Amino acid sequence: MALLKAHGGDWVSGQLLAEQTAMTRSAVWKQIGVLREEGYGIEALTRRGYRLCDVPDRLSPLEIRDGLGTRVLGQREIRYAKTTESTNQTAKELAAAGAPEGTLVVAEGQTRGRGRLDRRWFSPPAGGLYVSLILRPAFPPAEAHRLVLVAAVAVAEALNGVTGLKVGVKWPNDLMAGGRKIAGILTEAAVQMDAVDYVVIGLGLNVNIPEEQFPDELRPAATSVLAQTGRAVSRALLMRRILESLEACYEACREGGFAPLRARWMALMDMAGARVSIRTMAGSFTGEVVDFDQDGFLILRDEAGTDRRFYSGDVTLLKGVPR
Ligand code: BTN
Repeated sequence: MALLKAHGGDWVSGQLLAEQTAMTRSAVWKQIGVLREEGYGIEALTRRGYRLCDVPDRLSPLEIRDGLGTRVLGQREIRYAKTTESTNQTAKELAAAGAPEGTLVVAEGQTRGRGRLDRRWFSPPAGGLYVSLILRPAFPPAEAHRLVLVAAVAVAEALNGVTGLKVGVKWPNDLMAGGRKIAGILTEAAVQMDAVDYVVIGLGLNVNIPEEQFPDELRPAATSVLAQTGRAVSRALLMRRILESLEACYEACREGGFAPLRARWMALMDMAGARVSIRTMAGSFTGEVVDFDQDGFLILRDEAGTDRRFYSGDVTLLKGVPR
C-alpha cells in the first residue's frame, strides 16, 4: 500500500510491486484483494499494473503515519483494532508491560469506551477518534495532572486548525463546540512513590457522527464535527494534526511546566466568573469560578466567601455557558 501511495495515483507495474516487496506476483494480487476488502479503491489493468484511486477514511497505522510530522508520538507501535473494548484499557496493559512513550492504541469503534466517573463513551464505528497514547513523563506525580490541560490545549488547537470550529475548554477535560461537548479526555496514570511510571491519555472525539445518531440521552449535550460544520473530515488527518500539536505542547511543558501553555489555555476557557457546582471525590461544592492558577487549578469562591482550589472534578455550569 505504501508503494501504491508513493506513486500518488499513477500506475505501478505488478513486476515492480513484486520486486520491491519481495513477493511473488500472485502474492501481490492476493494482497491487492485484501486491500480492496478493506475499502481501498485499486484499479488493475493488464500491461499497466495497479493504480490507487480511492483511500478509505481509516485509522490504520499506514494512514496515520502518511505525512505525520512527529518525532515520537505515533512513531512507535500503533496498536490498531477495528473494534476493541476500550483503548485506554489496552494502553494501560501495554504500558504495564513496558511499552515505550509514544505508543498509540487506536480503534475504529469501542464496545466499552469509558469516560470519567465511570461513564460510558459513545463510540460508534468509524464515527470518531478513540485513541489512547502512552507517555512516560519525568514529572513528579503531583505534576502529572498538567497533562490533562496540555492535552486539552493541543486537541482544541488542532481541531480548530483542521475544521475552523471555535473550540472551547470546559475545565478540566471537556472540549466544547456550539455549547455542546465534542470531545473528552480521560487520563489514567500509574505512579510510584516519587515518580510517574506511565500516563495514558485517552481521547474521544466525535468527528463524523450525524446528530441523529447520538442516543436520546446524549443528544442535547453532545455534538460532532459533522453536526457543527455540516462536513465530514478525514479522521486520519485530524489524528495527525492532534499528535503533532500534542507533541509540541508536551515538549513545551517538559521544558517550562504549565506556564508556557497557560495563556493559550486561558484563551480557550470561558469559565471565569461563572457560577458552577463541582463534584469531586470529597463532595460537591457550589460557588463562583474566580480564577485558574499557575498550575491550572480551578479557584472556586464558595457561598461563605472561602476560596478553594481544585485540580479535577465534574463541573456543572449553573450560570455562564462556555463556547
Ligand atoms: C470524558 O469526557 O469523560 C472522557 C472520555 C474519554 C473517552 C476516550 S475514547 C478513547 C479512550 N478509551 C476509553 O475507554 N476512553 C477514552
